[in-house]
Amino acid sequence: MAILFNHETQVFTLQTLNSAYQMKVAEYGVLLHLYYGRRIDDCDLSYLIQRTDRGFCGNPYEMRQDRTFSLDYFPQEYSCFGIGDYRADCVKIINADGSCAVDYRYRSYQIKKGKYTLDGLPALYAEEEQGETLIIEMEDHHTGMKLELYYGIIEGSDVITRAAKIINGGEREAVVKRAMSMCLDFNHDNLDWVHFYGKHTMERELERSRVIHGRQSIGSERGTSSHQHNPFVILCDPMCTEDSGDCYGAGLVYSGSFLAETEVDQFHQTRLVMGISPDQFTWMLNPGESFQTPEAVMIYSGNGFTDLSHKFHRMVSSHLLRGPWARKRRPVLINNWEATYFNFNGEKLIHIAEAAKELGIEMLVLDDGWFGKRDSDYTGLGDWEVNETKLGGTLKGLAERINGLGMKFGIWVEPEMISEDSNLYRCHPNWAMRIPGRPGNIARNQFVLDFSRPEVVDGIQDMIFKILDEVNIEYIKWDFNRSISNYFSAVLPSGRQGEIGYRYMLGLYRFLENLVSRYPHILLESCSGGGGRFDFGMLYYSPQIWCSDNTDAVERLKIQYGTTFGYPVSSIGSHVSATPNHQTGRITPLETRATVAMAGTFGYELDLSILNDEEKEIIKRQVKEYKEHYNLINRGDYYRLSSPYGKCRAVAWAFVSPDQEECLFCGVMTCLQSNPDGTIIKLKGLNPKKTYQVGEQVYTGEALMYGGILLPVPKEEYQSWRYEIKAVK
Ligand code: DGJ
Repeated sequence: MAILFNHETQVFTLQTLNSAYQMKVAEYGVLLHLYYGRRIDDCDLSYLIQRTDRGFCGNPYEMRQDRTFSLDYFPQEYSCFGIGDYRADCVKIINADGSCAVDYRYRSYQIKKGKYTLDGLPALYAEEEQGETLIIEMEDHHTGMKLELYYGIIEGSDVITRAAKIINGGEREAVVKRAMSMCLDFNHDNLDWVHFYGKHTMERELERSRVIHGRQSIGSERGTSSHQHNPFVILCDPMCTEDSGDCYGAGLVYSGSFLAETEVDQFHQTRLVMGISPDQFTWMLNPGESFQTPEAVMIYSGNGFTDLSHKFHRMVSSHLLRGPWARKRRPVLINNWEATYFNFNGEKLIHIAEAAKELGIEMLVLDDGWFGKRDSDYTGLGDWEVNETKLGGTLKGLAERINGLGMKFGIWVEPEMISEDSNLYRCHPNWAMRIPGRPGNIARNQFVLDFSRPEVVDGIQDMIFKILDEVNIEYIKWDFNRSISNYFSAVLPSGRQGEIGYRYMLGLYRFLENLVSRYPHILLESCSGGGGRFDFGMLYYSPQIWCSDNTDAVERLKIQYGTTFGYPVSSIGSHVSATPNHQTGRITPLETRATVAMAGTFGYELDLSILNDEEKEIIKRQVKEYKEHYNLINRGDYYRLSSPYGKCRAVAWAFVSPDQEECLFCGVMTCLQSNPDGTIIKLKGLNPKKTYQVGEQVYTGEALMYGGILLPVPKEEYQSWRYEIKAVK
């Protein structure tokens, strides 16, 4: 790992374990992007930039004798709007005179030990000796606007992090209209882009297409990263597969509205930019003030998607998740949502907990409905006072009874919301985000609280912390059940209303930081109607995220498959629920539901108190098996063995221990056939020269990986198999 600056060539080279990233300070301080890919030394690759006079591609004024230097063709490190680069830009600033242009030129750099942190924002962390930071300082000589580009690298990894800070070093105010976190230019268009789209109950479906001329974008205006698009994308060689090829993953460490945009330009070059969505965004900067973008993370692999995913998984586990639960075994839980919905009382919960305890389950999570007047989703949000009538006693008393059974206790909260029918709304109607004079847009009958206001965050935080101080709560599910619209803050002046989205995120992150630092023993699971806020930003606070409100094991195959491209299995909230499934009506075997839920933070979400003896025995075995395989599943390498979008009738994956001694193979048959073909799945990640035991049989690693395993003929629809594969001593 090294950050190098070659004074002679003016080239910066960031070297990670296997990759390198290069920039060059060119004529008159224009900062060019030179290279990103396989690791190289600090050679100067600027000879690859074709210098020729191009029509309708202007040149910076100082170069008027030289018509070959065009910002519209040259690869830019952080492209500026308004000065002759017409491609997707990173920064757009309206100056005090009304002009919309900024021309950042290189001034200086600093290389520092340790990885930078960002005030109030989530960011990857590393020990002082493990990280290194490069800060490149730029300036617009006409307005005094400054820019700091931050780059971080981390020892033993291929992670490169980036962020930008815009500083008003001038004497007059300016308005930032767009401030991206990253820009990545390629000198060709031989690329596919892979992104993950979806909807509520069907998140992170994979879509792969060629980059095309003009702009293609995904993003969110919803105030959350959203179910609809995930802030994680991959650009790759069109030939790239799971096992080979160049690919570049990029993600935002941010949970609000975002934009990821590709553009193929007139010269068949490609640009990717990623950052806060500019649509709902403006930021007023008075002299001396600054604006900090969220962090973006980039990883390159020359060995295909599996290697890229492993690198992201390690990055999350070692440099993003924090607190004791990042490493500790997480409890197997029972959540009462799909068991009871709002229809429960204290005794019902105790019955479920008793049944769960008998099966080896370790924690009861009390979901929505325990507070205020909350017997349906029409009322009560914002009234964080325990409904003792419904519980038949105090929450403390209930927690004590659950703890008395030898189980942990957790609760659901939705701190960012307010119901119109709540005491909070009656006291503070303008805490809800609504545009005065407009009825607004209601979703699940609730409004979003204006978390851009510190006093609103503090008010809700006080109510929730009061409960956490009184009751032995060891887990929190933090939910968010609508998209934000009608952005308006009752306290911001009109010129600053465009700041709400980002200020909201700062408020949310402050609350989450206070929560995790005051109650480090609490395991936080974030959620937004399932996976509507599944991003690197939330993972900084909550080591696991409820992956989807869709618990159908078969649809989950796609949802979890897509999620694993960027996120580790240990972050994917997954439960076994009842059959027929409540979202789809599909009937699946109990074993299959467990096979799928085991590729995540395993738990149950059905009424355990009404199970028959056979079901109880099966679940008892499943819980035991999950605990036995916990390390393999959560610390092993995860391999996607077949795609839910492919031709194979079985969707399969495997966990392999780092020493290749152990593997857990999982496969689900997704369709039945008469007179069936053989279904063969090739294992990955084993040692070809070792011998492995699979049930009664013994195979070489080579046989299992290059030949494969033959799945039995299924006896029922959606049958699944879990094979423990162990190296023979
Ligand atoms: C949406 C969540 O994703 C569900 O699991 C459940 O907690 C409900 N909200 C409760 O309102």
